[in-house]
This record gives sequence, structure tokens and C-alpha cells, in this order.
Amino acid sequence: MTREIVIFGDPVLRKKCAVVEEVTDEVRELVDDMLETMKEAHGIGLAAPQVGVVIQLAVVDVSHDPECCSYLRVDGKDVEMEAAMPLIFMNPELEYDGQEDVMSEGCLSFPDIRGDVTRPYEVKATVGFLDGRSVVIETDGLLARVIQHESDHLNGVLFIERMSTATKFSLRGRIRRMQRDCRVD
Ligand code: NI
Repeated sequence: MTREIVIFGDPVLRKKCAVVEEVTDEVRELVDDMLETMKEAHGIGLAAPQVGVVIQLAVVDVSHDPECCSYLRVDGKDVEMEAAMPLIFMNPELEYDGQEDVMSEGCLSFPDIRGDVTRPYEVKATVGFLDGRSVVIETDGLLARVIQHESDHLNGVLFIERMSTATKFSLRGRIRRMQRDCRVD
């Protein structure tokens, strides 16, 4: 079942999400719904708060893009990117390496906005999988970027806050409009 995607302006997007302590049937159902919702919206990542659930859970699927990373290691072992998709992770803790990279980003909670965001090019993420394992994921490029973008959501951080002042300034009219149009039931 697809769920409604929360649009910017809704305070739920600013919440710091709770750690997932246990993978219940409810969590599994949420994962299925998030995968379906992401696919229908043609997204490459979706975090639980974007469907109104404030827990540290996110889904990612970049399998449409074979160039999305130059390597992917899970617990130090090389893994085929396609085989690891969709990537479903909980409770991420991220570490970065020095190099940064600029890329245009969008977000399903900001339907009309895209803008350049600078982020570390490589990431090392310690995450929980649904089967109970805690694993270390290392990757770069677009995949590293999406993992960072979704992990930000779980801390109530939105991609507009990662934009340069100039980029944000150029988008300010559209950002304000979205905030105004937001309905909070
Ligand atoms: Ni997003």
C-alpha cells in the first residue's frame, strides 16, 4: 500500500527520529509501503518521517543507475550494487572521508525544488538491517549521497539546509510557497 508523502512545511520533517529497537510486523509493513511509495513517486530514497513515521528507517534504490558508485562494500566485502538494492537500513551512524562533491539533489518532500548540495563523496555507514545484523556499508558517488540525504532526514535535517546561501536564496520564493501551502491536520 502506498502512503502519502509529507511535504515540506509539515513539522514532522523536523523531528529527530527514534531508534528502531525491534523489527516488528508493523515495521516490516512500513518497509513494504515505503518501497511501494518510493517506486510510485520515481524516487531513489525515502525516509520514514517522509510518510509521517518518526523512526530511524530509510529505503534506497539506485539500481537504475549502474554508475551510481564505483564500489560498494558490506562489512569489508565487495558487493554488486544491484544485488544490494533495495537497501533498507535503520539507525545509521555515518563517518566521512575528506573529499567533497557537488551534485544537484531533489527530495520527494520538495516536489518543485532541485539544487546543488555539497557533501562528502565517500561515506562509511554503520546501519541495522531488518534481519537484525549491524553492518558497515562503504561506498561513494550517488549511492553515498542518497545514504547521507536519507540519514539527514532521520535527524530532522533537510537538504535545503545543506545548500549554499546563494542556492537557497535563488529558491527562496518556491520554499516559502511550499511552507504556506502546507496543511497540518
Ligand atoms: Ni529527501
